[in-house]
Amino acid sequence: MNSWELVFDGFDPAQEGLREALCALGNGYFATRAAAPEARADGVHYPGTYIAGCYNRLTSTVAGLDVTNEELVNAPDWLPLAFATPESDWFSARESDLLGYRQELDMRHGVLHRKLRFRDGHGRVTSVRQRRLVSMSDPHLAALEATFTAENWSGPLRVSSALDGRVTNRGVKRYRDLRGDHLTDHSTGQDGDLTWLRARTRSSEITIALAARVESDDGRSEFLQEAEWISEEHVLDLRQGSPATVTKTVALATSRDHAVADARSAALRWVRLAPCFDTLLSRHRHAWDRLWTRARLDLDDPEDARNLRLHTFHVLQTLSPHTTDLDVGMPARGLHGEAYRGHVFWDELFVIPWLNVRFPEISRTLLRYRHRRLPEARNAASALGLPGAMFPWQSGSDGQEETPFLHLNPRSGHWLPDNSRLQRHVGLAIAYNVWQHYAATGDVEFLAGSGAELLIEIARFFGALARFEPASGRYEIRGVMGPDEYHEAYPGADSPGLDNNAYTNIMTVWLLLRARETLRLLPRRERGELTVRLALTEEELDRWEEITHRMRVDFHDGVISQFTGYTDLLELDWDRYQGVRRLDRALEADGESPNRYQVSKQADVLMLFYLLTAEELREILDRLGYPVKPDMVQRTIRYYLERTCHGSTLSAVVHAWVLARSDRSRSWRFRTEALGSDLNDVQGGTTAEGIHLGAMAGTLDLMQRCYLGLEVHHGSLYLNPLLPDRLATLSLPIRVHGASLSIEVDRGQARITRADDGPAHLRVTVRGQSAILGRGAGHTFPVSRPDVMSGDAER
Ligand code: BGC
Repeated sequence: MNSWELVFDGFDPAQEGLREALCALGNGYFATRAAAPEARADGVHYPGTYIAGCYNRLTSTVAGLDVTNEELVNAPDWLPLAFATPESDWFSARESDLLGYRQELDMRHGVLHRKLRFRDGHGRVTSVRQRRLVSMSDPHLAALEATFTAENWSGPLRVSSALDGRVTNRGVKRYRDLRGDHLTDHSTGQDGDLTWLRARTRSSEITIALAARVESDDGRSEFLQEAEWISEEHVLDLRQGSPATVTKTVALATSRDHAVADARSAALRWVRLAPCFDTLLSRHRHAWDRLWTRARLDLDDPEDARNLRLHTFHVLQTLSPHTTDLDVGMPARGLHGEAYRGHVFWDELFVIPWLNVRFPEISRTLLRYRHRRLPEARNAASALGLPGAMFPWQSGSDGQEETPFLHLNPRSGHWLPDNSRLQRHVGLAIAYNVWQHYAATGDVEFLAGSGAELLIEIARFFGALARFEPASGRYEIRGVMGPDEYHEAYPGADSPGLDNNAYTNIMTVWLLLRARETLRLLPRRERGELTVRLALTEEELDRWEEITHRMRVDFHDGVISQFTGYTDLLELDWDRYQGVRRLDRALEADGESPNRYQVSKQADVLMLFYLLTAEELREILDRLGYPVKPDMVQRTIRYYLERTCHGSTLSAVVHAWVLARSDRSRSWRFRTEALGSDLNDVQGGTTAEGIHLGAMAGTLDLMQRCYLGLEVHHGSLYLNPLLPDRLATLSLPIRVHGASLSIEVDRGQARITRADDGPAHLRVTVRGQSAILGRGAGHTFPVSRPDVMSGDAER
């Protein structure tokens, strides 16, 4: 197996949507699904191009109600390239006599190859080879090259290239009752030998322009033009056995781009000046080489290496160095499809830790996206009568809450209320990311600038959300939802929300402690300024301190309860619902509700063991005055594992992590599942609607922070490697506090080498043995296999 390639043989209409997402190409500015260039959206194919941060709102009527949704817009299609042999219809993979069909995604260089042979109705056999790229060196350019060989005939081959603005957002079946006609005001035209198309998004009023340059061995071309599309037809005089090539180079610009006068003239100018395909390809390959130098993860199992590369590839196609120039967050489903409407959830929690030690400038961009929306988060908190910042569960262009009020259960056909906006914990994830970013980079400027402000404003909100309840003598947080979205309300309750979600309450304590620590870490002047600017008072700080001693956490049978009253819920008949991941939909279709049962969609309480070390968690519970038995962690893991159906791809990542040191084979199984989340489409058809970026990045992070035990504290690097049995070696570069390091680990030793940058000295500790590494220095640490004690779930 070539671990740099993802290969699909044969044409399979049922798999087409999945392959379009898995082989999508992008550069952080935009991405295009791997649709067949000759196809339009037809139920099998779904061409889609998505520009980072390009959202639009539309109002639709469903179930008698007006609902407004903001979506990442499916931009005009730059890809169309159809061809036809003499006296034949345009080629279609579905209808032709295919003699061969293969797609190869070259992840090392970011190129998608497509090779096919077909026989037309007159017995002519033609082979076609296509290469396409979305340039990583020039984020506004993309190109498609098609080479045709007439194998047993000679004659004219018609090739039609188009720019097509007749696209809508129709990629997700369950959204199809909603409007998707985001584009309006189309116009098209010719400028010399170039064609262009322009359209505008209806409410966000972003102008999107495409310009194309099509070159063929034959100069003749004919143009056809409507307001919404423009095409040009070339006729190639094929000679038997001699290949003939058509190249389409496209530039994409929007009215939001920097340094443009207007999108149309920018696109025209860029495509006119764009180099030929080979030069464009060579620059693009160099850009990918540079990325892979920083993103590398070498291991000895080729299949594993291939799958991890696929995940790295898609993370970098969504979030690349080009992203740092944009005002965008992390869309949960990449720029690969329309599921979740391109919204930003809490999933960056799974991406930022990997980025922090590989591409810290990109994680800073994601945090800046949040910081720019701090005023809106303050408005949201104040609308509830609370101070501080309440970030939305689903975020889009301006940071308002984008979670829909209704969602469709495709299983029952019912439109149901969607209360998932009550997942206030998204703010905790943002604060955690700020803290992690600072810990990994030591970037005081970031902390003193936006970092501390974010963290403190979020702390302020949670500090106020927690109310003292005389009945329990503790602070409580009521009416929220945890990460487990299957519990929205108490059975029979009039209003949604649950009390004292343990994850929310404990992470609030963690946050309030970090907020105080952040203030201590800031240089004196910055601390003074921030305190004045945020009008922080001693009284507020004292209240935070008190909450860290008196927050409520519920327990049952030596296990942390997911929320108050969780054990009053019924046990589910798991045999009846065996293997069902979307239990919410299955139960609702049966006239039931998951609210009544002890079932979890994904890790909720167990998120605590994912984000905090066992020691950190124990310290918090001690501080709160809850005695913790030694087996609490194990009992809690076991309890929820038996009641979780993994209806989110994030769940397998978290479970692989929490079991890594106590049940290695089970952890490995979860890791393998997470690694196949999209490749094997484990959530049954959802990958075609967009990849699961959080799970993808989560598997990369697992290799580093979990199996290598990589942590950065107070400017020192710690490693505690425990390689899974299947892996004998692991090698990767990281960046910590401005220093570039290379790590190579096998069963016997860990070798750490520093490049010539960063601070003069860096302390590195591997399994308790420390060394101070100067610039350019290296050190080898012995790492014999420790005994893994059963019952020890600690990291
Ligand atoms: C999960 C959330 C996640 C969202 C976007 C949902 O299915 O339950 O935790 O944030 O998908 O990935």
